[in-house]
Amino acid sequence: MGISKSDPIIIVGGGAFGLSTAFHLTRSGFTNISVYEKDDQIPPRYSAANDLNKIVRAEYEDPFYTGLTIKAISEWKTPLFAPHFHQTGFLHCASGDAPQKALDTLSRFRASAESNTQTKPHVIPLNDSNDVRQACWQLDGPLTGWKGYLNRFDGYAHSGNALAAVYRATQAAGVRFYLGQHGAVDEVVYVSTIHGRKSSGIRTKDGKFHPSSLVIVAAGGAVGRLVPELGKKVVAKSWSVAHVHLTDEETSALRGIPVTYARDLGFFFEPDPKTNLLKICPMGGGFINTDSKTGVSHAPDTLEESAFVPEHDEKQMRKLLAHTLPALANRPLVKTSLCWFADTDDSDFIIDYVPGTSDSVLVLSGDSGHGFKMFPIFGSWVLDVLETSQQRNVQWRWKQSDPNESKGNWGGDVSWRLGESKELSEIKPKILSKL
Ligand SMILES: Cc1cc2nc3c(=O)[nH]c(=O)nc-3n(C[C@H](O)[C@H](O)[C@H](O)COP(=O)(O)OP(=O)(O)OC[C@H]3O[C@@H](n4cnc5c(N)ncnc54)[C@H](O)[C@@H]3O)c2cc1C
Ligand SMILES: *[C@@H]1O[C@H](CO)[C@@H](O)[C@H](O)[C@H]1NC(C)=O
Ligand SMILES: *[C@@H]1O[C@H](CO)[C@@H](O)[C@H](O)[C@H]1NC(C)=O
Ligand SMILES: *[C@@H]1O[C@H](CO)[C@@H](O)[C@H](O)[C@H]1NC(C)=O
Repeated sequence: MGISKSDPIIIVGGGAFGLSTAFHLTRSGFTNISVYEKDDQIPPRYSAANDLNKIVRAEYEDPFYTGLTIKAISEWKTPLFAPHFHQTGFLHCASGDAPQKALDTLSRFRASAESNTQTKPHVIPLNDSNDVRQACWQLDGPLTGWKGYLNRFDGYAHSGNALAAVYRATQAAGVRFYLGQHGAVDEVVYVSTIHGRKSSGIRTKDGKFHPSSLVIVAAGGAVGRLVPELGKKVVAKSWSVAHVHLTDEETSALRGIPVTYARDLGFFFEPDPKTNLLKICPMGGGFINTDSKTGVSHAPDTLEESAFVPEHDEKQMRKLLAHTLPALANRPLVKTSLCWFADTDDSDFIIDYVPGTSDSVLVLSGDSGHGFKMFPIFGSWVLDVLETSQQRNVQWRWKQSDPNESKGNWGGDVSWRLGESKELSEIKPKILSKL
C-alpha cells in the first residue's frame, strides 16, 4: 500500500503522541498534515501531558524500554527539547512501611539501572535514611525506613512547555492545527470498498467532514470513543495530581532537588520556578470510569468532573511530605485534579493500524502512564510503521478485543502498580455527583 508524502494525513489529538508524530512526519517530508484538538489551546487541558513536569527515567524492568529511553534522553538534550529537560536525578526509594511488592519492584528497577552500562556510573545506592539525606540535604523529614538509590542519569521534563514548543515548531513547518470547536472530532468516517471498510476522513463535532488518506488517532484516555474496536483492551484510568504553593524563598531552597519517589507513597518534583508550585502524585491503583452498558472505561468529557483528588490520596500526599519536607505537610493542596491516560494490561504502547481498515486508521494508544519521556522520539516509531507498512515490535501491535471478557483488565497485575483501581463514581465528592 504505502502512503505518499503529499497525501493528506489527519492526526486526532494535540497531546504528547499526536504532536510528536506531527513533528517526525513533517521532518521526514510529509507535507499535508492537519492536527485536530478539542481544546482551544496547546498544551490542551485534557492532555495528560498538560503539566509542570513528568519523570524522565531511563531504567525500566524491561530492557527494551530502557534502551528506548536512553535514546529519548539523548534527544531531550537537543536544542528544541533541552530547555524543557532537567537532569536533576531520580531518588527512587521505598519507605519503611512499603509492602513487599513495592520492595521487589524497586529492586528490579535498581538492578536495571545498575546493569545498564550507560546508567550504571550514575547510580548511587542509598542503604538507609542517612544515605538519602546525604544524597539530598533538603529532605529534612524523618525519612522513616527509606532506602533505594539515586540515579543521576535521570530527571524530569516540563511537559506543558515541551508540548508548546513542538506545537510552535510544527506550525512553523506547515502543520495545520484545528482547535476547539473546529478541532473536536466526533467520529472516524468509513466507506465500503471491495476489501472491506476504509476511512475517508473524519467528522468534527460541528458536523463538517474532512477528507484524508490516513487518520492517526492519538486521543489519550478518550481513544475508546473514536476507536471502539479496542474494546476493553485499553482502559481509561486516572491518577491524582496536586500542588503545594511555595514562597520564592522555599522554591529557591529546593532548587535542583531530584525527583523524589517512594514507591509506596508517591512522588514530587523540584518546585517550578515560574509558578512556585511543587507537584505531587500519590500513584496507587488509579481510578476508572466504566460505562455500565459496555463495560469500557472512558475519560470523562468535562474537566470539571476530574477537578478534585480523593481523600485517601490527599492523606497519602501529606504522608509523603511529612516523611520528606514536613514544613509543607499541612499546607493547602492546590490545582488538584485526576489526570487521565490510556492503560493496557501489560503497560505496552499500541502503535498499529486498526485491523480491516486497509491501513487507513492508525492508533497511538496504551501510553499506560509512562509515555511522556518518549516525547522527542515517539513519532519516529509512527514513521517506521508508515514506511514498513507494519508494526515490527510485537509488543506494540494491535490488541484484539475479546468479546467474552466480562470486564476490562485493570492492570492490577502490572508489577509497578500498587493497589486496586476504584470507580470514579465511588470517589466523586458529593457536590460533583450532582452535576
Ligand atoms: C498523573 C500522571 C502522571 C504521569 N507521569 C508521567 C511521568 O512521570 N513520566 C512519563 O513518561 N509519563 C507520565 N505520564 C504519562 C504521559 O502523560 C502520557 O503517556 C502522555 O501524555 C500520553 O500522550 P497521548 O498523546 O497518548 O495522550 P494525551 O497527552 O492525553 O493527549 C490526548 C489529546 O487528545 C485530545 N482528544 C481526545 N479526544 C479528542 C477528540 N475526540 N477530538 C479532538 N481531540 C481529542 C485531548 O484533548 C488531548 O489533548 C503520566 C500521566 C499521568 C496521568
Ligand atoms: C491537503 O489535503 C486536502 C484534502 O485532500 C486538500 O484539500 C488540500 O488542497 C491539500 N493541501 C496541500 C497543500 O496539498
Ligand atoms: C550500600 O551497600 C552497598 C553494599 O550492599 C555498598 O557497596 C555501598 O557502599 C553502601 N552505600 C553507602 C552509601 O553506604
Ligand atoms: C466466546 O465464547 C463462545 C461461547 O463460549 C466461544 O464459542 C467463543 O469461541 C469465545 N470467543 C473467544 C474470542 O474466546
